[in-house]
Amino acid sequence: MKQGLGETRDCWIVTGGAGFIGSNFVRMIRSMGRARIITFDLLTYAGNLRNLDDLRNDPDHHFVQGDIRDRRAVDDIFSRYQPTGLFHFAAESHVDRSIENPEAFIETNVNGTFVLLDEALRYHKGAGAGRGFRFLHISTDEVYGSLSPTDPPFTERTPYAPNSPYAASKAASDHLARAYVHTYGLPLVTTNCSNNYGPFQFPEKLIPTVILSALEGRPIPVYGEGLNIRDWIYVEDHCDGVIAAFERGKTGETYALGAGNPRTNREVISAIVEILDRIHPAAGGESYGRLVTRVPDRPGHDLRYEIDATKARTELSWKPAHTFSQALEKTVLWYLENRDWWTELRGRYDGSRQGTGRRKEAGGQP
Ligand SMILES: NC(=O)c1ccc[n+]([C@@H]2O[C@H](COP(=O)([O-])OP(=O)(O)OC[C@H]3O[C@@H](n4cnc5c(N)ncnc54)[C@H](O)[C@@H]3O)[C@@H](O)[C@H]2O)c1
Repeated sequence: MKQGLGETRDCWIVTGGAGFIGSNFVRMIRSMGRARIITFDLLTYAGNLRNLDDLRNDPDHHFVQGDIRDRRAVDDIFSRYQPTGLFHFAAESHVDRSIENPEAFIETNVNGTFVLLDEALRYHKGAGAGRGFRFLHISTDEVYGSLSPTDPPFTERTPYAPNSPYAASKAASDHLARAYVHTYGLPLVTTNCSNNYGPFQFPEKLIPTVILSALEGRPIPVYGEGLNIRDWIYVEDHCDGVIAAFERGKTGETYALGAGNPRTNREVISAIVEILDRIHPAAGGESYGRLVTRVPDRPGHDLRYEIDATKARTELSWKPAHTFSQALEKTVLWYLENRDWWTELRGRYDGSRQGTGRRKEAGGQP
C-alpha cells in the first residue's frame, strides 16, 4: 500500500531539486518510494518547476521556494519537516558564468553552504537529535584542477587545485563541509562527481548546446581545438552513487564518482552528430557535422578531468549501469521528444554560445 504524507519513516530535504541533477534525483527517490521529499530551491535561471511536473500530484513531495543563504528559511524547513537526511545539490553551476560573475558563486556555493551546514548542525544537536540525520554534500571533480595527458585519474587523495571561480567556490564548500565533520561532529559525506548528462539539463551546458544547436540549424560551438577531456556520467548513475554514499558511506569520507568515459569535446560532438544523422536526419540530407564551428577558448580552460572511482565501487558497492553510447542516445531522444521544455528556456536566453545566456529576470538571484 502506498504510504501517505507523514507515514513514511524517512523525510529528506533536497536543495537545488528543481535543477538538472536535483530534479532527476527527486524523481528517482519518489519512484522508489524511498523517502518523503522536500525540494528546497530558489528557482534561479537554472531552476524550473516544470522539471518536477510529474510529481505534481504526489502527496509525498513538497516544493518550498527558498534561498540557502537565508538562515530563517533554512531554519524553518528543518523545524517544520524534521528531516532524516539533507542532500545538498543547490549551487551556481556553470563555469562560464563564474568567469563573468564570480560573486554569485561565492554567495551561493560558499556562503549558502555555510548557512546550511550551520543550521544542519544546530538541528542535529537539538530538535533532530536521535533521528539518525545525515548530510550529503554534492560536489564536483573540478576541485582537483586539471590533469596532463599522462597523469593518473583523480582519486579522493588528489590534492585540491581548483582553477575556475566555480571550482574554487565548490572547493571552499567542500572544505567547510569537512570542517563541520571534524570540528563539530556533523554526520556528513561528500561526493565529487564528473560531468553529468541526461534529461532536463539546462541548455547552456555542452551536450544540450550541441543537440539544440543542431536541431535549430545554428552553429555548433566548439571551444578551441575541442581537445579538452571530460569524464562523462549519465545523471541517473550519479544519483545512484549519491544514494549509495548516503546509505553506505562513512561519515567524514569523500567518494569520487565517475563512469570511466573520458572523451574529448570533439568526440562528444561527433557522437551526437552521428546519433542525430541516424535517427533525425536534417532536411536535405546533409550531416549536422557541417554546423560545427570553432569559437575562442574559455580562459583558463582545464585540459583534462578523469575519475578513478575504485573507492566508491568497492566501499559503496556502486557501479554505473549505463554505457556512454546508449545513455547519450537516450538523452538525444529526450531532447527530441521534449521540444516545448527547451524552446521555452531557449526563449529566455541567447543560446548562440555556451554560457553567454542572460539570467531570467523574475526569480533570479539578486
Ligand atoms: N552538472 C554537472 O555535470 C555536475 C557534476 C558534478 C557535480 N555537480 C554538482 O551537482 C549540483 C547540481 O548541479 P546541476 O548541474 O544540477 O546544477 P543546476 O544549475 O542545473 O541546478 C542548480 C539548482 O540550484 C538552485 N539554486 C541556485 N542557487 C540557489 C540558492 N541560493 N538557494 C536555493 N537554490 C538555489 C537553482 O535554482 C537550480 O535549481 C551542484 O552542486 C554541482 O556543483 C554538477
